[in-house]
Amino acid sequence: MARLPKRPKLPDVRALPGAGVVGKGAGALGKAASRLPHPPTIPLPGPLARASAGARTRARRAGVKILTTGSGIPVVRPVAELGMRLMFDNLSGRWEAIREDPQYREGFRECLSYLPHGFRPRRVLDAACGTGQATSVLIERWPGVRVFGTDISPKMVQAATELVPEAAFQVASVHKLPFADGEFDLVTALDGVIDLAEMLRVLHRKGRLLIVYSREGTTPVSRDLDELATEAFAIGAFADAHTETRSHALVVRHRR
Ligand SMILES: C[S@@+](CC[C@H](N)C(=O)[O-])C[C@H]1O[C@@H](n2cnc3c(N)ncnc32)[C@H](O)[C@@H]1O
Repeated sequence: MARLPKRPKLPDVRALPGAGVVGKGAGALGKAASRLPHPPTIPLPGPLARASAGARTRARRAGVKILTTGSGIPVVRPVAELGMRLMFDNLSGRWEAIREDPQYREGFRECLSYLPHGFRPRRVLDAACGTGQATSVLIERWPGVRVFGTDISPKMVQAATELVPEAAFQVASVHKLPFADGEFDLVTALDGVIDLAEMLRVLHRKGRLLIVYSREGTTPVSRDLDELATEAFAIGAFADAHTETRSHALVVRHRR
């Protein structure tokens, strides 16, 4: 029988430099990315946008995680994170002044009423906590409960540590939370960057993930609640959107 020509061995895309966007180590691309000043923000013209959509589909099939900037440009995770870190390190000194309007804290406080009646968590994580505005509300609401905060910006974390000494803060990406599976009864994010799968990973199977956006939608990280709810359902969770209060919220829970 004639032997078929040997198929050339294609490189596993997950082993390529930069494929660390999936998880372990950022690789050469990640290192190069960490030297870039900021992720690009120029909208792609039609043909390039279509090409980038094709690349995204191929990457998704290969298991490579690609994030998208507000302008629709796909970026690898280290680039997106670096841009956010630089931007929010820069804003950290002014953040409390920028958010001095009580609508942010109050809006978040009101959204706690969307949690089930009598809900009392034992461990809470405020992801993308910034200077700890939502974190302080959580401590006030459930005194004595262990509250943690994480943020990509070291300067935001430093400010939060000073402003809310009752909580334990650390620098960490929402895409790779330094906690074990199911560790928290409540995970929150106020105007935060969201990674549903990762947030649900650290959420106890009976816990709740509370995503809150200030109604003004003034931050570049705001996401559409319906879109997030659809994404939650696709990865095995239920999500209820609430828009009756001044801030909007999505309450997410595991399906089982
Ligand atoms: C609009 S601010 C909100 C901060 C805070 N929750 C508040 O309400 O004041 C968004 C925060 O998300 C953080 N952030 C951005 N990308 C992140 C990521 N990948 N992982 C964790 N935090 C991130 C920023 O550093 C910033 O502090």
